[in-house]
Amino acid sequence: MRVVVLGATGMLGSRIVAEAADRGHHVTAVSRSGGRCRDGVVATIGDAADRERMRSVFLSSDVVIAATRPAPGEPGEVAALTDGLLGVAIDTDTRIIVIGGAGPLRSPSDPRVLVVDDPRYVRPEWRASAELSVAQLRACSGRPEADCTYVSPPAMIAPGRRTGRYRRGTTDLLVDRDGNSAIAAEDFAVAVVDELETPGHDRHFTVARLVEPSTGEDIDA
Ligand SMILES: NC(=O)c1ccc[n+]([C@@H]2O[C@H](COP(=O)([O-])OP(=O)(O)OC[C@H]3O[C@@H](n4cnc5c(N)ncnc54)[C@H](OP(=O)(O)O)[C@@H]3O)[C@@H](O)[C@H]2O)c1
Repeated sequence: MRVVVLGATGMLGSRIVAEAADRGHHVTAVSRSGGRCRDGVVATIGDAADRERMRSVFLSSDVVIAATRPAPGEPGEVAALTDGLLGVAIDTDTRIIVIGGAGPLRSPSDPRVLVVDDPRYVRPEWRASAELSVAQLRACSGRPEADCTYVSPPAMIAPGRRTGRYRRGTTDLLVDRDGNSAIAAEDFAVAVVDELETPGHDRHFTVARLVEPSTGEDIDA
């Protein structure tokens, strides 16, 4: 499959690029700086806010994965950027998978409360970025004609070990028996590329690490 990853040099984008390339997809890695990429991946410069550039990028792909994040200090026009990408996806009839945030998931402590409003999962210093993800999902919901899937990471996601396994949920934050909501970025990439290859029915889903109930350790594939 021809896969374009926007934000390809980022923490999540780079792992999605690696996972897709390892599975034999033809990957184009897009960021504003270009950056270096592994062999077999085409790295290219592109700004996700540049509609004309995105149009040519989308036309050369079967599916686009949007994993951009404004740099610290940059204005966080995340919802507007996402809406622009969805417009291009509609115009070019291209599927798009948006890597979003945990903020718009429902809290496991009270399903009437979003994670963005639950300090158990969103510390005060994360709240502004969690609010951006709520607006970002709203932008996706506002474009029902787009072939768009929004993927929420769990509350914690960081580089780690690839196990190849994960739990998949829908719009509720997934937690383990100790209340932790986490996944390694490598396993998150596995879930995103699984969705790319075998689209599910959910327009919004989340994933979390799969743990052995007796030990709390990761279950390997
Ligand atoms: N628990 C959570 O909810 C959680 C945790 C982590 C991440 N996330 C989400 O996951 C997504 C990716 O995050 P990340 O941590 O992987 O980000 P990151 O490491 O900061 O990387 C961001 C990437 O986006 C690129 N970029 C930024 N603006 C761009 C633009 N306008 N056009 C093209 N590329 C652009 C950057 O490269 P250049 O600057 O060179 O363009 C970089 O490659 C974000 O939506 C973030 O909110 C959610």
